[in-house]
Amino acid sequence: MKILDTKFVQGFIKMADDGYRQGWHERNGGNLSYRLRTEEAESIKPRMNFRDEWFPIGTSVPGLAGEFFLVTGSGKYFRNIIVDPEVCIAIIELDEAGENYRICWGLVEGGRPTSELASHLMNHEVKKDVTGGAHRVIYHAHTTNIIALTYILPLDDRTFTRELWEMATECPVVFPDGVGVVEWMVPGGRDIAVETSRLMKKYNAVIWAHHGMFCSGEDFDTTFGLMHTIEKSAEILLKVLAVSPVKRQTITAQNFRDLAVGFGLTLPEEFLYEK
Ligand code: 13P
Ligand code: ZN
Repeated sequence: MKILDTKFVQGFIKMADDGYRQGWHERNGGNLSYRLRTEEAESIKPRMNFRDEWFPIGTSVPGLAGEFFLVTGSGKYFRNIIVDPEVCIAIIELDEAGENYRICWGLVEGGRPTSELASHLMNHEVKKDVTGGAHRVIYHAHTTNIIALTYILPLDDRTFTRELWEMATECPVVFPDGVGVVEWMVPGGRDIAVETSRLMKKYNAVIWAHHGMFCSGEDFDTTFGLMHTIEKSAEILLKVLAVSPVKRQTITAQNFRDLAVGFGLTLPEEFLYEK
């Protein structure tokens, strides 16, 4: 089967285009990665074009040694992925130490994987471990309303989680563990990757102050849906704050506890503080 026709490549392209249409990917903003299943990698091996040169990842991910990833290219526009995927995306293989990668397909006009490769792979390594291998997608988007909120709210997990939960009843159902927040850091390196992956042990979504968000999930739908839900919640919060700095009523801590019973959720008490 042609690599481009596989279900996972098609799902990846659709998700990238969905994100572009949401307005989260100006220019080359954002990046996406997918950890291939063993059988997916095996089925396309005859059609891969293994390049000889190995490049350093910039960090060490021994938990992902030998695995294959579909990733967006650095500097590539999400807008163009659906138009010419083989130019914009690539499949990479990691070496047996989990320290180097090589390109096996895609980026046919040249280029490298996303500059956030260290963050993607360190997040994948953590999520593979804590979910028993279930999570396969890491998504970074420049979500407008979440970015705006990072200029207004205190940059801590407690405040962001609670404020976002309050903006729609379904929010704690979609992200019951809450969201993590990383203060402003230089993107594209190991330090921000270490900090983000530390928070990914606890959360499926991590906000980068004044930059955007990272989400993790089992498949393209749940990961996109998580990004979409959190970003919509941020949009509602901004609308509320724009009209009135004080909420006349809201979903209370007790309402959340009742919701948890009704939906069989575990909502951490650290987010159910009295205001
Ligand atoms: P890349 O084009 O290298 O993926 O970078 C985009 C981005 O969003 C950096 O944070
Ligand atoms: Zn970014």
